[in-house]
Amino acid sequence: MKLWAHRGCSQRYPENTLLAFEKAAQINGLTGIELDIQLTKDGRMVVIHDERVDRTTDGIGYVREYTLEEIRKLKIDAGTGKKEVIPTIEEVLDLLEKKIKKGLKINIELKNSVYPYQGMEEKIVELIEKRGMEESVVYSSFYTASVEKIRKLSPKAEIGILDHKVSDCLYKVKGGCGADVLHPYWRGIDLPREQIEKYQVRAWFSGHLYPEKPTGTRLDIEELERKGITDVFLNEPERYL
Ligand code: G3P
Ligand code: CA
Repeated sequence: MKLWAHRGCSQRYPENTLLAFEKAAQINGLTGIELDIQLTKDGRMVVIHDERVDRTTDGIGYVREYTLEEIRKLKIDAGTGKKEVIPTIEEVLDLLEKKIKKGLKINIELKNSVYPYQGMEEKIVELIEKRGMEESVVYSSFYTASVEKIRKLSPKAEIGILDHKVSDCLYKVKGGCGADVLHPYWRGIDLPREQIEKYQVRAWFSGHLYPEKPTGTRLDIEELERKGITDVFLNEPERYL
């Protein structure tokens, strides 16, 4: 079972911040780090999960209504006395560059199924190619049209299709969306193992708004493996590695 840090080490540190990514990069044996990107009003790629800034920062409103300069003024309370800010994807790649060169993978989820940010695919593919990180990046999206676009822009890229049920992920892959990896919700394994075992199946956990598993509860990773899951995105990977 390969373990990924979901939005960084997001159980103990604020999700999608440099702090959460730095903590994840310190874990020995971690396969990779997952993060979410969106575009600001002036077209900059920032790392944030929700379409709005309200839940994770001291601001109000949509990411797309802020310029980069404005969004950087919003504060994220890390509980350490030091405030975090919404990072740009460039900052995250700078922070993780050494670890990426040593084999750490990055799953860049294009958060575009609610608001289809025009040109985000071109921007991220260009940036990753410019930095020579093609082999370290897995792109993913819930939005099939975006996956199709990334496949055209980057024929050799590794791409995960996100959905809740693994049967829906498989349906989209077989339909030709261009993804090669299934990224279902961990409770959404609704097919027998034999039907999915030729694929990598990276299951995601959520739990930032309504924790499904409190910190003190251990997940049965072996049970997930028996279902055909090959990788998991965990909020607290440090607990398992
Ligand atoms: O990419 C896996 C997972 O992060 C998808 O769900 O809502 O946490 O971005 P969400
Ligand atoms: Ca995500």
